[in-house]
This record gives sequence, C-alpha cells and structure tokens, in this order.
Amino acid sequence: MMWSPKTEQHESEQEDSTATLEDIEDTQQVASPVDEQAIARISEARTRLEEFASSELGDAHLVVVSNREPYVHTDPQDGSKWHTPASGLTTALDPVMRICGGTWVAHGSGHGDILVADASGRVQVPPDHPQFTLRRVWLERAEVAGYYDGFSNRTLWPLCHQVYVRPRFEEEDWLQYKRVNEKFAQAILAQVEGKRAIVLVQDYHLALVPEMIKSARPDVVVSQFWHIPWPNIDVLSTCPWHRQILKGLLGNDILGFHVRQYCRNFLGGVDRALEARVLGDKSAIFWNGRTTFVRPYPISIDPETMIPSENATVPELQRHKISGARVLLGIDRLDYIKGIPEKFRAYDRLLREHPEHQGRVVLVQLATPTRSRVPEYVKLAHEVEELAREINERHGDSTWKPIVLLQRLLDQEELAALYAQSDVCVVGSLQDGMNLVAKEFVAARRDQRGVLVLSRFAGATKQMIGALPIHPYDREAYAATLHAAIMMPPEEQEDRMRQLRADLSRHTIYSWAENILREAVQVQRKFS
Ligand code: G6P
Repeated sequence: MMWSPKTEQHESEQEDSTATLEDIEDTQQVASPVDEQAIARISEARTRLEEFASSELGDAHLVVVSNREPYVHTDPQDGSKWHTPASGLTTALDPVMRICGGTWVAHGSGHGDILVADASGRVQVPPDHPQFTLRRVWLERAEVAGYYDGFSNRTLWPLCHQVYVRPRFEEEDWLQYKRVNEKFAQAILAQVEGKRAIVLVQDYHLALVPEMIKSARPDVVVSQFWHIPWPNIDVLSTCPWHRQILKGLLGNDILGFHVRQYCRNFLGGVDRALEARVLGDKSAIFWNGRTTFVRPYPISIDPETMIPSENATVPELQRHKISGARVLLGIDRLDYIKGIPEKFRAYDRLLREHPEHQGRVVLVQLATPTRSRVPEYVKLAHEVEELAREINERHGDSTWKPIVLLQRLLDQEELAALYAQSDVCVVGSLQDGMNLVAKEFVAARRDQRGVLVLSRFAGATKQMIGALPIHPYDREAYAATLHAAIMMPPEEQEDRMRQLRADLSRHTIYSWAENILREAVQVQRKFS
C-alpha cells in the first residue's frame, strides 16, 4: 500500500479479524484483473450454506423474526402489487431465507398486506416465485406510534448510537413496546407449536421476545442478532427499563453483535446490572438457570447482487456531471447517525482549501427519506437541504453544481450504476453498527478502481483495511483525506480495491448466516 493518511490511522482490531496468515498469503496471490478467485469464493460460500441447510438443519423449523417485512403488498384493492423495502436488514436476510426456507415473522405494514394473507397472516413469498412463508403480525396505529416511532426509534436508536441526540424515555412508548413484543412472541409460538425450531430474532425492535419464547418453550433455540451498536452500561443505564431489556435478551441462547467491542459492552453491562455470572473469557452469561453465549458476527452482503449492468445510468448524475469531473458519492438513509452535514462541511472545506477542484468534482449524495414521522428526522432533512443549497451557492455557478442531492428511492440497478461510475465513495457515519454501503461499493467495482473513504466509527472499518479512514468530526483531516482520495493514482486504487474485494469475498452474507446457524444447531443438539 503506497499512501496512508497522516491524520487518521486505521483502527483494525486484530482480534476482530478472522483472517489467518494463510488468508493473507492467499490475498496476495489474487493477481487476476477480474479477481476470479474472489468471485469463485462467493459462490462456494453460497453452496456451503445450501449444503448446510439441507444436511444439518434436519427437521428443525427455521423462523426469522424482524419488525420490517421483506415483501410489502401496497394496494388495498390489488394483491398483485408489491415491492421490496429499502432496508439493509431485509436485503441481507432474504437470500438466506430463499436458501434455507422456513417462516419469516414480521409486521404487516403494507396497505394491501391483509388482502393476500390467510387468517393467520401467512402468505408465500417472494410473490413471483414462492420459497418461504411470510407470517404477518398486525399492529394498531397506536402500537406503531409507541413501539416503532417511539421506543425503537426515539429511545433505543439514539441510546445505542450515541451521537448526542437525546433519547426519549416515555412510559407509554415502553408499554407499547412490551405489548408489541408480546404480540410477536405469540405469533412465533403459534408458528413453532409442536415443532423443533430455531428462531432467529433480528434487531432492537424485539429485545423482549427471546425471554417470552424461552419461558414458554425452553426447547426452542433462540438466537438474536443486534444490528446496531451496543453502548456501555453508563449510557445504557440512563434508560429506566434497562434491566428488563437485558433480561429479555438473556432469553437468547446466542446473542450476536457486529464487533467484539459491542460484545464486551454487553457482557460488562450485565455484570454490573444483574446478579448474573459472567464468564468474560468464554463470552458466556449464566442467569436464571440458562446460558447465553455472546458472539461477534460481522454482517455482510451477497456481493453478486451489486453488479452493474452495461448501460445502466442515473439521469441526475449524467445531467450534472461535467465532462471529466471526479464523482464523490454518498449513499445514506437520511438519518442523523450517517453524518451527512459533517460530510458536506468537510467537502466545503476541501473546495475552499483546494480551489483547483472547483468545477472538477461533484458530490452526489443520495439521502433516502426514512422515519419521517420522527421529529429529529424532519429537522435533519431541512438541515441537509439548507446546507447543500448554501454550498452550491457559495462555490457553484450556472455550469457547475458541487452537490447533487438526491432524495428519492433508487432501484438496485441504478444503485449499482452509481457505485460503478463514481470515483470515491464516502461513508461518513458518526456511529454505525456495520454499514453495508461500504461493502456494496466494493462489490460493484469489478474494474478494481475507486476509493473508499470510511468513518472510523462504522463497524465496517474493522474489516475493510483497504479503505481510507476518516474521523467524521475532524473537518480538517476529513477534507485532507477527500483530497487524497481524489488524487489517488490508479495503481494504488487497484492495490487497495483488490484487497477489499478479496476480504469481502471471505465474509459474505452466506458465511455470516452459516456461522450463526452452525452455532444454533450445536445448541440444539445439546437440547435433544
Ligand atoms: C438500519 C439498521 C438496522 C435496522 C433498520 C431499521 O438499517 O442498520 O439495524 O433494522 O435500520 O430500519 P427501518 O426502516 O425498518 O426503521
């Protein structure tokens, strides 16, 4: 590697990397310009999961549970209309369910959902090629307001991310959260009645579900993956109900986080808050006569789904790209954890300090609207629009607009085209469990080009050592890194991208799911 920014060192936690010496030697052998070995490894991982599902799952019924459903029927009159939501979680888990089969329990949020479901809320999906069952849980408007908008997104989300947005602790939200978790637990219990089962609970919306299932069905294996950061106990304990949340999660046989730091925070928190036996060296907790193993499982993607098609393009990019301009790209949900204003300010500084870039670069920022009933998100949307306008006015002219702000949904094809046609992808999260955009960008770069600029506060930074790290609050260093990324010679880009792609091929969504399922099957063998 030829260049490394003076200002920010990569914080790869040695212990978080599962790469062996053999892996590293192997990386250096990936010399082919189309990195054929890496591509072959991805399909091997998929095949391994298929084999595992058919040989090891046996008669165990697999149940995935999440708030967000993978298929949404949109029209209250026409059951043939549906779409897939813009959600990293459902995009990641859908290919796994297609391989393994089973049931996915989720909130039925679409206007046409009820039309196509049976009396128990079940419908076969994908609608055009059914491979598993979706079991929808119906929620009242007040339940969604308290459980989802309230406790999930205004309490747990800011509490776990710690980006100085104050969490809201409202008793009514907490009561709705408990009520909805109970509804989910009842739907799961009905689904697994009379069956051996492995239940994979997803994320922070459902912290109480594991204990509810386990106390009714101790023989069912319950494993949960927490997709966002886990704070230390000093932060967690500001929540008046933190002990109930910890107890709910200790209903899991296995509890997974993206990185070891979050596992350590959890183990340390339980040790301080509950009368539990915590074995740090074994990452195990004994409580209430049961054992919970706490494990790091860094999530990933299926890199093969992010391959751009030949002529795909995005009109806004074409319209604004002046000939030969370098394109910096940001792809984020319009969420305050993503650091979009900080990115704009660093870019503004870059344009002030390096006037040679004026008219020669463009920042294309996709800011996908999300959680628009939550006031903090409405405020952020205004801030981002205002800042983009200000910067465009300050530096731009009639022929050049330095920031192109897109606030619409892009389909997979447009997304892949954006990744493939840009020069630098900037992931500037203030805090992020993993960040799959960083991985999608790498997946789309079969040409081995492009530079990834990655926040040190995204979980992905621990695995992606070919990226240029930034500190999103350090504007001066951020701008310097953007400059270095724009100026990076092609050979260095290739060098870094080859390493990133080789690493990504070793950690796909298939290996992630296989690791989680393998441990769940081991636990199940102990029960039978
Ligand atoms: C992000 C997080 C996931 C979370 C999801 C919820 O993608 O990384 O952990 O489940 O947001 O998004 P939603 O749109 O369903 O509120």
